[in-house]
Amino acid sequence: MCGIVGYLGPQNGINIVLEGLRRLEYRGYDSAGISVLGANGRLAVFKKAGKLENLRNIVSEIHPTSNTTIGHTRWATHGEVNDTNAHPHISDSMAVDDEYSIAIVHNGIIENAPILKKELIDSGINFKSQTDSEVFLGLLLHELYQAKSSKKADYMQAILNAFKRIKGNSAFVIQTTDDNTLYALKKGAPLVCGTNQRSRELFVSSDPYALVGMADKVFFPDDGILCVLNRQNSQIRFFDLEGRPSSKVASRDQEISMQVSEKGAFEHYMLKEIFEQPERIRTLSNYYLHGNGQLLLQKIAHHHPKQIHISACGTAWHAGLVIKNFLERFNRIPCVIELASEFRYKNPILSPEDLAIFISQSGETADTLAALDLCLEQKIKTLAIVNVEGSTLHRNANESLLIQAGMEIGVASTKAFTLQALTGRMFGDVIQSKKINSAIFDKFNLLADRIEELLRSADQIQAIAEEIYNYKGFIFTGRGDDFPVALEGALKLKEIAYVHAEGYAAGELKHGPIALIDEMMVNLAIVTPKLYEKTVSNIQEIKARRGIIVTIGPANDHHLQEISNYYIPMNYEGLDELIPLYANVVSQLFSYYVAKFKGTDIDKPRNLAKSVTVE
Ligand code: AGP
Repeated sequence: MCGIVGYLGPQNGINIVLEGLRRLEYRGYDSAGISVLGANGRLAVFKKAGKLENLRNIVSEIHPTSNTTIGHTRWATHGEVNDTNAHPHISDSMAVDDEYSIAIVHNGIIENAPILKKELIDSGINFKSQTDSEVFLGLLLHELYQAKSSKKADYMQAILNAFKRIKGNSAFVIQTTDDNTLYALKKGAPLVCGTNQRSRELFVSSDPYALVGMADKVFFPDDGILCVLNRQNSQIRFFDLEGRPSSKVASRDQEISMQVSEKGAFEHYMLKEIFEQPERIRTLSNYYLHGNGQLLLQKIAHHHPKQIHISACGTAWHAGLVIKNFLERFNRIPCVIELASEFRYKNPILSPEDLAIFISQSGETADTLAALDLCLEQKIKTLAIVNVEGSTLHRNANESLLIQAGMEIGVASTKAFTLQALTGRMFGDVIQSKKINSAIFDKFNLLADRIEELLRSADQIQAIAEEIYNYKGFIFTGRGDDFPVALEGALKLKEIAYVHAEGYAAGELKHGPIALIDEMMVNLAIVTPKLYEKTVSNIQEIKARRGIIVTIGPANDHHLQEISNYYIPMNYEGLDELIPLYANVVSQLFSYYVAKFKGTDIDKPRNLAKSVTVE
């Protein structure tokens, strides 16, 4: 979703902000802009629909300089994608005398924007865009003009008053003509401030990743905390909604381990991240068996919930389905899993002995956070399985397990899925035996070895994708433990290759979807030792209707190979419950190659955002 970067310091902030925005490109966006303080003492904006490159081109022609700059990448919610709707929004010509020059950037949704807009228009404010964001700027101007008439005009108070009037989750950064100050505040949307005391620079962003290597300390304000960044004393002060100084801010040194991720020799981040899986699995094992993770595991070993609720979205929800299978099979604990967007509105049946698990790569997914809040309000114990350290989910859940996936840049989640599922398996193992067992990590490392072998033969999957990427549709099938990865395979393919794909429990096909099968439909069948004969029968049913069969199946299974059009041999030996995670890597590679042959924007697929911070 929208990315925000702001800078105050001794340097020209333009390139710093543009670099921050470049790092946030992975979040998904459709336009970009910056605002600067011009020599005439007023703010000016440069903004452009499309890629960041378009903005760079206009900036490089004009060479603006500004010690205080805010920038934004927009992911459209209200109003089409065009230059006018891009951020920052600037106050010029919004009020009669244009006394104020203010620019704002926004991430989130102002739910009561239509009502507020009407009220503001009636009071003489003009709007230039179709966005809800501009309503906040209108409110701010309105507050300033009202306060001015009583000779008490004050930016801070006006911002707080305007903020109190909006509904929904949002983060804002506000720039005025005071070159020494930026204001930022949020509710239910990510916001981080940063300082670098040596270089006397201050930063603000929607994502700490933008600040890696720039800030050496980062601050995570609570909801409703106004951050006032001051260039003169290189300090950030924090205030509550009544304007009183507040300490409701978490801080930490910027993670050295959080390196800026580059693609290296790989053509896409997604491919790099698929190939990183063996290494990241071994990192996970080391962290929890020998490293700091031991303490986290010891802390959670006491859990013995009567029932577990799992909430997540998208791929993280699929990882939740895998974890549910693990917990029910090995722990015999009933698990209820819900999409976070459903859970939050369904008045779930929760009891005090329950545990609620939230799974998220980013830790900033709006629906997942809302589901977490619901459980926290009802005093249900909460556990986060999360990748991004310092994210809202990581900070707010009662306990957290970090999945050790490292930065995931590709919008299509790959390594995070595998590591979320393994973290869930590890959690189940620890609460079952009340201690850390090395055996489970041996199995994880065996999975890492197998994935490594599979990746060495990625070419065979690429060759299959090249032959069938233009087929009409793709049905991924699997039974039992393999069903969640059938769903995940289909999601991966549709999100990056823009083809119709569905995941089905193999036994369900004949209850409807088999009507789709003809010689232009492909069935990717995940065949593993459990329920082998049943799954093979389902393949026969598709074959009888001339569907194209791509089987992910046991090595040396000549019969299965014969009935399949394409065959990907797997070595399942010793992997047992981890088999679905191994088979899923085939689907990841297959989706990647299909997308590559189709020529789509693999790392930043259309319409998608890496971190979905609106509901
Ligand atoms: C995965 O490929 C997707 N892009 C998406 O479904 C994602 O998993 C979902 O939005 C949840 O994100 P999170 O893990 O950051 O919470």
